[in-house]
Amino acid sequence: MSIAEDLRPALGLPAIQTLAAADMAAVDALIRRRLSSDVVLINQIADHIISAGGKRLRPMLVMLAGHAAGGAGPEHHQLAAIIEFIHTSTLLHDDVVDESDLRRGRSTANALWGNAPSVLVGDFLYSRSFQLMVELDRMPVMRILADTTNHIAEGEVLQLLHVHNPDTDEAAYLRVIERKTAVLFAAGTRLGALASGAGEAVQQQLYDYGMALGYAFQIADDVLDYSANAEELGKNLGDDLAEGKATLPLIHAMAHADDATRQRLRGIVQDGDAGAMPEVLAAIHATGGLEYSRQRAVAYADAAGRALDGLPESEAVAALRGLARYAVQRSH
Ligand code: IPE
Ligand code: IPE
Ligand code: MG
Ligand code: MG
Repeated sequence: MSIAEDLRPALGLPAIQTLAAADMAAVDALIRRRLSSDVVLINQIADHIISAGGKRLRPMLVMLAGHAAGGAGPEHHQLAAIIEFIHTSTLLHDDVVDESDLRRGRSTANALWGNAPSVLVGDFLYSRSFQLMVELDRMPVMRILADTTNHIAEGEVLQLLHVHNPDTDEAAYLRVIERKTAVLFAAGTRLGALASGAGEAVQQQLYDYGMALGYAFQIADDVLDYSANAEELGKNLGDDLAEGKATLPLIHAMAHADDATRQRLRGIVQDGDAGAMPEVLAAIHATGGLEYSRQRAVAYADAAGRALDGLPESEAVAALRGLARYAVQRSH
Protein backbone atom coordinates (compact mmCIF):
# COMPACT_ATOMS: atom_id res chain seq x y z
CA MET A 1 0.00 0.00 0.00
CA SER A 2 1.34 3.42 -0.82
CA ILE A 3 0.90 6.54 1.27
CA ALA A 4 -1.75 7.88 -1.10
CA GLU A 5 -3.99 4.88 -0.40
CA ASP A 6 -3.35 4.83 3.32
CA LEU A 7 -6.59 5.78 5.04
CA ARG A 8 -5.36 5.76 8.63
CA PRO A 9 -5.53 9.21 10.23
CA ALA A 10 -2.58 11.43 9.36
CA LEU A 11 -2.42 15.13 10.24
CA GLY A 12 -1.21 17.83 7.85
CA LEU A 13 1.76 20.03 8.79
CA PRO A 14 -0.25 23.05 10.10
CA ALA A 15 -2.27 20.77 12.39
CA ILE A 16 0.91 19.05 13.58
CA GLN A 17 2.51 22.41 14.32
CA THR A 18 -0.55 23.53 16.27
CA LEU A 19 -0.57 20.29 18.23
CA ALA A 20 3.11 20.62 19.10
CA ALA A 21 3.15 24.43 19.56
CA ALA A 22 3.24 24.58 23.37
CA ASP A 23 5.93 21.91 23.61
CA MET A 24 7.99 23.52 20.87
CA ALA A 25 7.81 26.91 22.59
CA ALA A 26 9.13 25.28 25.76
CA VAL A 27 11.89 23.53 23.81
CA ASP A 28 12.86 26.73 22.06
CA ALA A 29 13.04 28.63 25.33
CA LEU A 30 15.26 25.90 26.75
CA ILE A 31 17.51 25.97 23.68
CA ARG A 32 17.92 29.75 24.02
CA ARG A 33 18.58 29.54 27.75
CA ARG A 34 21.24 26.86 27.37
CA LEU A 35 22.97 28.32 24.34
CA SER A 36 24.83 30.99 26.16
CA SER A 37 28.53 31.21 26.85
CA ASP A 38 30.89 33.85 28.27
CA VAL A 39 32.73 33.76 24.96
CA VAL A 40 31.10 36.35 22.72
CA LEU A 41 31.98 34.67 19.40
CA ILE A 42 30.24 31.48 20.53
CA ASN A 43 27.05 33.41 21.24
CA GLN A 44 27.23 35.21 17.92
CA ILE A 45 27.71 32.12 15.79
CA ALA A 46 25.37 29.89 17.77
CA ASP A 47 22.69 32.57 17.72
CA HIS A 48 23.20 33.12 13.98
CA ILE A 49 22.31 29.54 13.12
CA ILE A 50 19.77 28.84 15.88
CA SER A 51 17.75 32.02 15.41
CA ALA A 52 17.54 31.33 11.67
CA GLY A 53 15.05 28.68 12.76
CA GLY A 54 15.16 25.57 10.71
CA LYS A 55 12.25 23.19 10.73
CA ARG A 56 12.92 21.89 14.28
CA LEU A 57 11.73 18.55 13.00
CA ARG A 58 13.90 16.37 15.24
CA PRO A 59 12.84 17.98 18.54
CA MET A 60 9.24 17.81 17.36
CA LEU A 61 9.70 14.08 16.79
CA VAL A 62 10.99 13.62 20.34
CA MET A 63 7.90 15.34 21.73
CA LEU A 64 5.41 13.53 19.50
CA ALA A 65 7.03 10.14 20.13
CA GLY A 66 6.75 10.88 23.86
CA HIS A 67 3.06 11.71 23.56
CA ALA A 68 2.46 8.69 21.33
CA ALA A 69 4.09 6.49 23.98
CA GLY A 70 2.00 7.75 26.88
CA GLY A 71 2.79 11.40 27.61
CA ALA A 72 5.61 13.94 27.54
CA GLY A 73 7.00 16.45 30.02
CA PRO A 74 10.09 18.45 30.97
CA GLU A 75 12.48 15.53 30.46
CA HIS A 76 11.27 15.37 26.86
CA HIS A 77 11.90 19.09 26.44
CA GLN A 78 15.47 18.57 27.58
CA LEU A 79 15.94 15.57 25.25
CA ALA A 80 14.47 17.55 22.36
CA ALA A 81 16.92 20.40 23.00
CA ILE A 82 19.79 17.92 23.17
CA ILE A 83 18.84 16.40 19.81
CA GLU A 84 18.55 19.85 18.19
CA PHE A 85 21.95 20.88 19.60
CA ILE A 86 23.53 17.76 18.13
CA HIS A 87 21.80 18.40 14.81
CA THR A 88 22.92 22.05 14.76
CA SER A 89 26.47 21.08 15.53
CA THR A 90 26.50 18.63 12.60
CA LEU A 91 25.18 21.41 10.33
CA LEU A 92 28.04 23.73 11.33
CA HIS A 93 30.52 20.95 10.59
CA ASP A 94 28.72 19.83 7.42
CA ASP A 95 28.78 23.29 5.87
CA VAL A 96 32.54 23.46 6.36
CA VAL A 97 33.06 20.02 4.81
CA ASP A 98 30.64 20.77 1.95
CA GLU A 99 31.96 24.33 1.50
CA SER A 100 28.34 25.53 1.53
CA ASP A 101 27.57 29.21 1.80
CA LEU A 102 23.81 29.24 2.34
CA ARG A 103 21.88 27.62 5.21
CA ARG A 104 18.41 28.36 6.56
CA GLY A 105 18.21 31.26 4.13
CA ARG A 106 21.29 32.93 5.58
CA SER A 107 24.98 32.98 4.80
CA THR A 108 26.60 30.03 6.54
CA ALA A 109 28.77 30.53 9.61
CA ASN A 110 31.79 29.37 7.62
CA ALA A 111 31.07 31.96 4.93
CA LEU A 112 30.78 34.73 7.52
CA TRP A 113 33.37 33.79 10.15
CA GLY A 114 35.51 31.12 8.47
CA ASN A 115 36.03 27.40 8.89
CA ALA A 116 37.88 27.31 12.20
CA PRO A 117 35.27 29.24 14.23
CA SER A 118 32.47 27.14 12.69
CA VAL A 119 34.12 23.85 13.59
CA LEU A 120 34.94 25.02 17.09
CA VAL A 121 31.45 26.38 17.80
CA GLY A 122 30.09 23.09 16.42
CA ASP A 123 32.23 21.38 19.05
CA PHE A 124 30.82 23.74 21.68
CA LEU A 125 27.26 22.75 20.78
CA TYR A 126 28.20 19.06 20.80
CA SER A 127 29.72 19.28 24.25
CA ARG A 128 26.85 21.44 25.52
CA SER A 129 24.50 18.66 24.45
CA PHE A 130 26.55 16.24 26.57
CA GLN A 131 26.28 18.59 29.56
CA LEU A 132 22.50 18.59 29.16
CA MET A 133 22.51 14.80 28.88
CA VAL A 134 24.48 14.33 32.07
CA GLU A 135 21.95 16.50 33.92
CA LEU A 136 19.32 13.89 33.16
CA ASP A 137 21.51 11.37 34.99
CA ARG A 138 20.10 8.35 33.17
CA MET A 139 22.58 5.82 31.87
CA PRO A 140 20.32 4.39 29.11
CA VAL A 141 19.86 7.91 27.71
CA MET A 142 23.60 8.56 27.75
CA ARG A 143 24.30 5.22 26.09
CA ILE A 144 21.86 5.89 23.24
CA LEU A 145 23.20 9.39 22.64
CA ALA A 146 26.87 8.40 22.91
CA ASP A 147 26.32 5.59 20.38
CA THR A 148 24.31 7.87 18.12
CA THR A 149 26.85 10.69 17.97
CA ASN A 150 29.58 8.13 17.35
CA HIS A 151 27.59 6.67 14.44
CA ILE A 152 26.97 10.12 12.98
CA ALA A 153 30.71 10.79 12.99
CA GLU A 154 31.27 7.43 11.28
CA GLY A 155 28.66 8.34 8.67
CA GLU A 156 30.33 11.63 7.91
CA VAL A 157 33.74 9.96 7.49
CA LEU A 158 32.23 7.14 5.43
CA GLN A 159 30.69 9.78 3.17
CA LEU A 160 34.05 11.48 2.83
CA LEU A 161 35.51 8.19 1.62
CA HIS A 162 32.92 8.10 -1.17
CA VAL A 163 33.40 11.65 -2.36
CA HIS A 164 34.67 11.69 -5.97
CA ASN A 165 34.12 7.93 -6.15
CA PRO A 166 31.98 7.07 -9.21
CA ASP A 167 31.60 3.47 -8.00
CA THR A 168 29.42 4.59 -5.08
CA ASP A 169 26.30 2.47 -5.47
CA GLU A 170 22.88 2.53 -3.84
CA ALA A 171 23.92 0.12 -1.05
CA ALA A 172 26.91 2.28 -0.13
CA TYR A 173 24.72 5.40 -0.28
CA LEU A 174 22.19 3.82 2.08
CA ARG A 175 24.92 2.86 4.54
CA VAL A 176 26.03 6.50 4.64
CA ILE A 177 22.58 8.04 5.09
CA GLU A 178 21.68 5.58 7.83
CA ARG A 179 24.58 6.83 9.89
CA LYS A 180 24.76 10.47 9.01
CA THR A 181 21.01 11.15 9.24
CA ALA A 182 18.67 8.30 10.15
CA VAL A 183 20.28 7.28 13.45
CA LEU A 184 19.61 10.73 14.94
CA PHE A 185 15.92 10.58 13.98
CA ALA A 186 15.74 7.06 15.45
CA ALA A 187 17.50 8.09 18.65
CA GLY A 188 15.09 11.01 19.07
CA THR A 189 11.95 8.94 18.72
CA ARG A 190 13.33 6.11 20.87
CA LEU A 191 14.31 8.56 23.60
CA GLY A 192 10.87 10.14 23.47
CA ALA A 193 9.35 6.73 24.19
CA LEU A 194 11.95 5.84 26.81
CA ALA A 195 11.33 9.04 28.75
CA SER A 196 7.60 8.26 28.74
CA GLY A 197 8.33 5.03 30.54
CA ALA A 198 7.34 2.89 27.55
CA GLY A 199 8.54 -0.70 27.43
CA GLU A 200 11.10 -2.09 25.01
CA ALA A 201 8.54 -3.08 22.34
CA VAL A 202 7.10 0.43 22.02
CA GLN A 203 10.58 1.96 22.14
CA GLN A 204 11.56 -0.35 19.28
CA GLN A 205 8.48 0.62 17.25
CA LEU A 206 9.27 4.30 17.58
CA TYR A 207 12.94 3.64 16.86
CA ASP A 208 11.97 1.80 13.64
CA TYR A 209 9.67 4.68 12.73
CA GLY A 210 12.46 7.23 13.25
CA MET A 211 14.99 5.21 11.33
CA ALA A 212 12.76 4.75 8.27
CA LEU A 213 11.71 8.40 8.44
CA GLY A 214 15.36 9.46 8.54
CA TYR A 215 16.12 7.52 5.35
CA ALA A 216 13.06 9.06 3.65
CA PHE A 217 14.03 12.53 4.83
CA GLN A 218 17.62 12.34 3.56
CA ILE A 219 16.65 10.85 0.18
CA ALA A 220 14.11 13.68 -0.19
CA ASP A 221 16.85 16.17 0.75
CA ASP A 222 19.08 14.72 -1.95
CA VAL A 223 16.27 15.03 -4.51
CA LEU A 224 15.73 18.66 -3.45
CA ASP A 225 19.43 19.38 -4.04
CA TYR A 226 18.66 18.76 -7.75
CA SER A 227 15.13 20.06 -7.99
CA ALA A 228 14.15 22.62 -5.36
CA ASN A 229 13.77 26.35 -5.54
CA ALA A 230 16.91 27.60 -3.75
CA GLU A 231 15.15 30.53 -2.12
CA GLU A 232 12.46 28.32 -0.69
CA LEU A 233 14.99 25.64 0.29
CA GLY A 234 17.22 28.18 2.04
CA LYS A 235 20.26 26.29 0.72
CA ASN A 236 22.06 26.39 -2.59
CA LEU A 237 21.21 23.73 -5.14
CA GLY A 238 23.93 21.57 -6.63
CA ASP A 239 26.09 21.47 -3.51
CA ASP A 240 26.28 17.68 -3.67
CA LEU A 241 27.54 17.59 -7.25
CA ALA A 242 30.00 20.42 -6.66
CA GLU A 243 31.47 18.37 -3.85
CA GLY A 244 31.72 15.22 -5.98
CA LYS A 245 29.07 13.53 -3.79
CA ALA A 246 27.03 10.96 -5.72
CA THR A 247 23.56 10.85 -4.17
CA LEU A 248 20.67 8.63 -5.24
CA PRO A 249 19.44 10.57 -8.31
CA LEU A 250 22.94 10.57 -9.80
CA ILE A 251 23.72 7.01 -8.69
CA HIS A 252 20.56 5.92 -10.52
CA ALA A 253 21.59 7.89 -13.62
CA MET A 254 25.07 6.34 -13.62
CA ALA A 255 23.56 2.87 -13.36
CA HIS A 256 21.00 3.36 -16.14
CA ALA A 257 22.51 5.76 -18.67
CA ASP A 258 24.04 4.59 -21.95
CA ASP A 259 27.78 3.80 -21.88
CA ALA A 260 28.96 7.14 -23.21
CA THR A 261 26.83 9.12 -20.76
CA ARG A 262 27.89 6.84 -17.92
CA GLN A 263 31.57 7.50 -18.64
CA ARG A 264 30.88 11.21 -18.80
CA LEU A 265 28.98 11.15 -15.46
CA ARG A 266 31.78 9.17 -13.83
CA GLY A 267 34.26 11.82 -14.91
CA ILE A 268 32.04 14.57 -13.54
CA VAL A 269 31.80 12.84 -10.14
CA GLN A 270 35.56 12.35 -10.07
CA ASP A 271 36.12 16.03 -10.80
CA GLY A 272 33.21 17.42 -8.72
CA ASP A 273 32.41 19.51 -11.77
CA ALA A 274 29.60 21.87 -10.75
CA GLY A 275 29.69 23.46 -14.22
CA ALA A 276 28.41 20.19 -15.65
CA MET A 277 25.08 20.54 -13.81
CA PRO A 278 22.97 20.95 -16.99
CA GLU A 279 24.42 17.71 -18.39
CA VAL A 280 23.93 15.88 -15.12
CA LEU A 281 20.35 17.09 -14.85
CA ALA A 282 19.66 15.95 -18.41
CA ALA A 283 21.01 12.48 -17.59
CA ILE A 284 19.04 12.32 -14.35
CA HIS A 285 15.85 13.31 -16.17
CA ALA A 286 16.49 10.87 -19.03
CA THR A 287 16.89 7.97 -16.60
CA GLY A 288 14.03 8.97 -14.32
CA GLY A 289 16.47 9.47 -11.45
CA LEU A 290 14.30 11.93 -9.52
CA GLU A 291 11.15 9.82 -9.83
CA TYR A 292 13.06 6.70 -8.80
CA SER A 293 14.54 8.47 -5.78
CA ARG A 294 11.16 9.90 -4.78
CA GLN A 295 9.68 6.41 -4.95
CA ARG A 296 12.43 5.07 -2.72
CA ALA A 297 11.78 7.91 -0.26
CA VAL A 298 8.03 7.16 -0.29
CA ALA A 299 8.76 3.47 0.36
CA TYR A 300 10.72 4.42 3.47
CA ALA A 301 7.98 6.85 4.54
CA ASP A 302 5.45 4.02 4.14
CA ALA A 303 7.65 1.78 6.27
CA ALA A 304 7.79 4.51 8.90
CA GLY A 305 3.99 4.67 8.97
CA ARG A 306 3.73 0.88 9.27
CA ALA A 307 6.11 0.86 12.22
CA LEU A 308 3.41 2.71 14.17
CA ASP A 309 0.78 0.04 13.58
CA GLY A 310 -0.53 -1.32 16.84
CA LEU A 311 0.15 1.79 18.88
CA PRO A 312 -3.03 3.18 20.46
CA GLU A 313 -4.50 5.77 18.07
CA SER A 314 -3.97 9.33 19.26
CA GLU A 315 -3.39 12.76 17.80
CA ALA A 316 0.32 12.24 18.37
CA VAL A 317 0.34 9.02 16.34
CA ALA A 318 -1.63 10.76 13.57
CA ALA A 319 0.93 13.58 13.69
CA LEU A 320 3.82 11.12 13.36
CA ARG A 321 2.10 9.58 10.34
CA GLY A 322 1.63 13.08 8.93
CA LEU A 323 5.32 13.86 9.38
CA ALA A 324 6.21 10.73 7.39
CA ARG A 325 4.19 12.17 4.51
CA TYR A 326 5.61 15.61 4.97
CA ALA A 327 9.20 14.30 4.86
CA VAL A 328 8.73 13.21 1.25
CA GLN A 329 6.36 15.94 0.04
CA ARG A 330 8.18 18.96 1.39
CA SER A 331 9.75 21.65 -0.75
CA HIS A 332 12.26 22.83 1.85
C1 IPE B 1 19.41 19.18 7.11
O1 IPE B 1 18.38 18.88 8.00
C2 IPE B 1 20.41 18.07 7.13
C3 IPE B 1 19.87 16.79 6.61
C4 IPE B 1 19.87 15.70 7.30
C5 IPE B 1 19.37 16.74 5.27
P1 IPE B 1 17.05 19.75 8.08
O2 IPE B 1 16.47 19.88 6.71
O3 IPE B 1 16.18 19.18 9.13
O4 IPE B 1 17.61 21.16 8.52
P2 IPE B 1 16.88 22.34 9.33
O5 IPE B 1 17.12 22.06 10.78
O6 IPE B 1 15.43 22.35 8.99
O7 IPE B 1 17.60 23.59 8.87
C1 IPE C 1 23.23 15.93 5.69
O1 IPE C 1 23.72 15.91 4.41
C2 IPE C 1 24.36 16.17 6.62
C3 IPE C 1 24.09 16.01 8.04
C4 IPE C 1 23.54 14.95 8.57
C5 IPE C 1 24.51 17.12 8.87
P1 IPE C 1 23.67 17.16 3.44
O2 IPE C 1 25.04 17.68 3.21
O3 IPE C 1 22.88 16.76 2.24
O4 IPE C 1 22.86 18.22 4.26
P2 IPE C 1 22.53 19.66 3.70
O5 IPE C 1 21.87 19.50 2.37
O6 IPE C 1 23.84 20.39 3.62
O7 IPE C 1 21.59 20.23 4.73
MG1 MG D 1 25.72 19.69 3.25
MG1 MG E 1 21.62 18.12 1.13
